[in-house]
Amino acid sequence: MDLYRLPHSTYVFLTLALSCILISRLYFHQTPTVRVASLQKTRDLSQNDTKNFSDSIHANEFPNPSTGCALPEEKRFDCARDRTVSQAECEKRGCCYLPLTQTEYNGPPWCFYPASYPGYRMGPLSPTPKGQSATLSRATPSYLPRDISTLQLDVMNEEAGRLHLILKDPSSARYEVPYVKVPSSKRTNTEGFLYDVDFQSDPFGFVVRRRSNGQVLLNTSVAPLLFADQYLQFSTSLASKYISGFGEHYTHLTLDLNWTSVTLWNRDMAPHSDVNLYGSHPFCLVQEGNGQAHGIFLLNSNAMEVALQPMPALTWVTIGGILDIYIFLGPDPQSVVRQYHEVIGYPMMPPYWSLGFHLCRWGYNSTNVTRAVVQKMQEASFPLDVQWNDLDYADKKRVFTFDPQRFGDLPEMVQELHEQGLKYVLILDPGISSTSPPGSYKPFDDGQQREVFIKNLTGQTLIGKVWPGPTAFPDFTNSDAVSWWEECIRDFHANVSFDGLWIDMNEPASFVHGSVHGCPYTDLENPPYTPDVIGGQLNSGTLCMSSQQALSSHYNLHNLYGLTEAFATYSALLKVRGSRPFVLSRSSFPGLGRFSGHWTGDVRSDWEQLRYSIPAVLLFGLYGIPLVGADVCGFEGDTNEELCVRWTQLGAFYPFMRNHNDRNNIPQEPYVFGQRAQLAMNNALVIRYTLLPFLYTLFHHAHTSASTVARPLFFEFPSDPNCVTIDRQFLWGSSLLISPVLEPGVVDLAAYLPPELWYSVYDGKPYNSKGQYLLLPAPLDIINVHVRAGNIIPLQMAALTTTASRRNPMVLIVALSSQGWAKGDLFWDDGDSLDTFEHGDYSYVIFTAGQSQLVGEPIKLNGALDGLTVAEIRVFGVATPPTGVWANGERVYNFSYETDNKVLTVISLSLPISETFTVQWS
Ligand SMILES: *[C@@H]1O[C@H](CO)[C@@H](O)[C@H](O)[C@H]1NC(C)=O
Ligand SMILES: *[C@@H]1O[C@H](CO)[C@@H](O)[C@H](O)[C@H]1NC(C)=O
Ligand SMILES: *[C@@H]1O[C@H](CO)[C@@H](O)[C@H](O)[C@H]1NC(C)=O
Ligand SMILES: *[C@@H]1O[C@H](CO)[C@@H](O)[C@H](O)[C@H]1NC(C)=O
Ligand SMILES: *[C@@H]1O[C@H](CO)[C@@H](O)[C@H](O)[C@H]1NC(C)=O
Ligand SMILES: *[C@@H]1O[C@H](CO)[C@@H](O)[C@H](O)[C@H]1NC(C)=O
Ligand SMILES: *[C@@H]1O[C@H](CO)[C@@H](O)[C@H](O)[C@H]1NC(C)=O
Repeated sequence: MDLYRLPHSTYVFLTLALSCILISRLYFHQTPTVRVASLQKTRDLSQNDTKNFSDSIHANEFPNPSTGCALPEEKRFDCARDRTVSQAECEKRGCCYLPLTQTEYNGPPWCFYPASYPGYRMGPLSPTPKGQSATLSRATPSYLPRDISTLQLDVMNEEAGRLHLILKDPSSARYEVPYVKVPSSKRTNTEGFLYDVDFQSDPFGFVVRRRSNGQVLLNTSVAPLLFADQYLQFSTSLASKYISGFGEHYTHLTLDLNWTSVTLWNRDMAPHSDVNLYGSHPFCLVQEGNGQAHGIFLLNSNAMEVALQPMPALTWVTIGGILDIYIFLGPDPQSVVRQYHEVIGYPMMPPYWSLGFHLCRWGYNSTNVTRAVVQKMQEASFPLDVQWNDLDYADKKRVFTFDPQRFGDLPEMVQELHEQGLKYVLILDPGISSTSPPGSYKPFDDGQQREVFIKNLTGQTLIGKVWPGPTAFPDFTNSDAVSWWEECIRDFHANVSFDGLWIDMNEPASFVHGSVHGCPYTDLENPPYTPDVIGGQLNSGTLCMSSQQALSSHYNLHNLYGLTEAFATYSALLKVRGSRPFVLSRSSFPGLGRFSGHWTGDVRSDWEQLRYSIPAVLLFGLYGIPLVGADVCGFEGDTNEELCVRWTQLGAFYPFMRNHNDRNNIPQEPYVFGQRAQLAMNNALVIRYTLLPFLYTLFHHAHTSASTVARPLFFEFPSDPNCVTIDRQFLWGSSLLISPVLEPGVVDLAAYLPPELWYSVYDGKPYNSKGQYLLLPAPLDIINVHVRAGNIIPLQMAALTTTASRRNPMVLIVALSSQGWAKGDLFWDDGDSLDTFEHGDYSYVIFTAGQSQLVGEPIKLNGALDGLTVAEIRVFGVATPPTGVWANGERVYNFSYETDNKVLTVISLSLPISETFTVQWS
């Protein structure tokens, strides 16, 4: 839940109010006589400034560039990103001042670095235990306050595909990001390495080349390195203009490089363009234009901004910490992601039930209302695994309590859900109400006594304001807070045996800026440079930057709040429930995927948000959080039947699928719609449930080898230029292509089929694509899904819960390649124990097809598959009609062959999947 989930008119009001804040802030921060040096800054002008602004254009009609200023526009790097400067100030910086006449917001800078600009000079590299090291120093300080003139460079050639560079202050320990797991490794011999790195010593810069083809991937000499206490900046050229990452934003899969910038600062903000949202992921993947790719990761948690320009190039600005840079050399996109996840940690294995359908709404305001929803789902035969409650359940909106009237029998309700094979999840906000009478609210009393809350600058508990009113915020970097949190969860769980926790509002969000007492004026609260965050101030909608946590100031730790809460919640759930935890977090940072899934926040119920949910989901796969989805049918505003059908169809292919609605909207549970819509939604849910063994196996691979679950097309077809930017379609693993309808009134869909033989998953109809768009029928009850030839997909007959479906017979779809072979696999365990793979407590089956036979071969067994049988196989692409079929050598008669699509279907089988089996046809 968040501040902006209010009636539409209120939202508009808040947006207006925000714009006013923006305008007024800039108004006060800018002296009206200052000339505007860079057009990026024109958005900072209020009406009254416009005159001075055009005067300045006139005054400089015939600039006289000093040497090195004759740079093409796209190669100009802003020399005044930190603040607005006049011509005199620009030139005093030794930069070129060249006003341009274009009037758009964004464009080349007016004040930019000349071709050669003094910076750090690098001393000789010498060996260290971890790699090599050099000292960087500058003769004169930069134009920034509290410039650091001597730096230490560490260069570590850690893996064949991983380069690690660190720039820090050797004389004083600066804040460095904790928690993000970085395996140490060192290679002295770089034979077989995918890269070469060259240093330019004066001014300092480095070039990373791909060794195989000599391509320059990064060149940081394009603009100077800056390193001041609260302003660190480096620029690099990019190998192409196809760059994906730097979440969390409302964007396409590849970013716009036309003089844009993105800000990374966790913020409670409903998804819309050009603003910082709930999470921060300082990582990007660059497609090199020839099927190869590399990644760049800046391990830094301070507020930051990445400016992109069409050269192509980027400038990375962060306002604290150190520059801890990783380059991942791939060479293919999937390898880049694996190399990145080796640093931040592989994603957790979700419980099987969490892949089922989840239903939630703010406004299920009593146990009986909640019960009625479950009952109506069951009466209408919709699969449902997990029923949720939003903050409605809590007594006076205080977490760890339940309302004695409306939710008085919550423990019984949860018990009933469990008896029906369902699970229960509820919301848990971090804000702890601070105004209950002493002795009446244990979480606060205990927390206060144990000093687990974030403190303000003068050392008292910082008080913000969230749903229950004034609240304190646990400091999850304090180990006492982690134990206190676990006890709160344990106590509450003793009454309400929830199965998972939904950690919302954990940017952290607050309805007052900073605290109820405001914030003191300090360099942390008001840094020399504030990235372009929504609200204009770092503490806007969150806590004071100067507030103190055990590890550091909130200024440094803000972006880690959700990660630290997710870890505390995950470990508490593990101890309290004893089985695999399910945590869903709104705020995110690299490493979150080890503990939690993510949903994309308060999306509006409209077609545009439906469409942009695809790149959002795909990008979170890159960020190592594969368990992700958008609220099906949309959260804010009223949905409509057609939108909700299409959203349910697409949502059936989100790795995490939850229908969640806001309080004041029309209802959007599947059963409230007309018969045709219900049928279409039911089909979509049944397809999802049927595919769960396949989806679960994909999660196993994500957990053990960092492959992606929902996957962009360019990951599988990196050399196909048509796939580079596609984000209206996506893949599950390498073999299922999902092509949803994303506009109203559409019944035919132009879908791209990469060069390959594909089959419709429903009837095996083949499409031998040369790499082309095909017009596919897409009536309201259909979502187009194609299987890539050469793959075997394990399915299981659907049921109304995964508790039931996990016992059902299995089905195999065998999609033969044009040469007649296919392969697939199945990972299976109890779906609920922790670390089954790590402990070897699982089963694993390999399927292969070729030469008119299918073989299932368990290569690891633990009993989990006992009693499960393969009841049916569907073989796509069987060229000649078979006259006989044999299962384990015995003739079977229940088979049919569909001549048009060349599909062989064998039913009535009963082949134990825990034993090797063979099905032959000829
Ligand atoms: C790196 O950029 C600098 C500045 O533009 C340029 O002089 C140099 O040639 C570039 N190096 C390579 C290898 O492209
Ligand atoms: C970049 O943006 C400018 C101004 O908005 C526009 O005129 C120009 O066409 C854009 N260029 C590209 C390549 O999109
Ligand atoms: C609870 O929700 C029901 C229907 O969902 C509504 O009729 C009722 O007015 C709500 N009650 C309260 C106290 O909000
Ligand atoms: C949970 O149960 C215990 C023991 O019955 C009781 O003392 C406590 O008040 C309950 N907590 C809530 C939140 O109802
Ligand atoms: C729920 O409904 C039952 C049966 O109608 C009723 O006895 C009970 O009081 C209701 N509970 C709540 C919390 O409204
Ligand atoms: C810290 O909080 C206390 C109350 O809890 C308040 O009196 C004090 O002014 C606050 N200090 C700052 C610096 O905001
Ligand atoms: C074929 O399948 C049908 C329907 O499942 C079943 O009734 C029949 O017994 C099967 N026949 C054979 C020979 O297995």
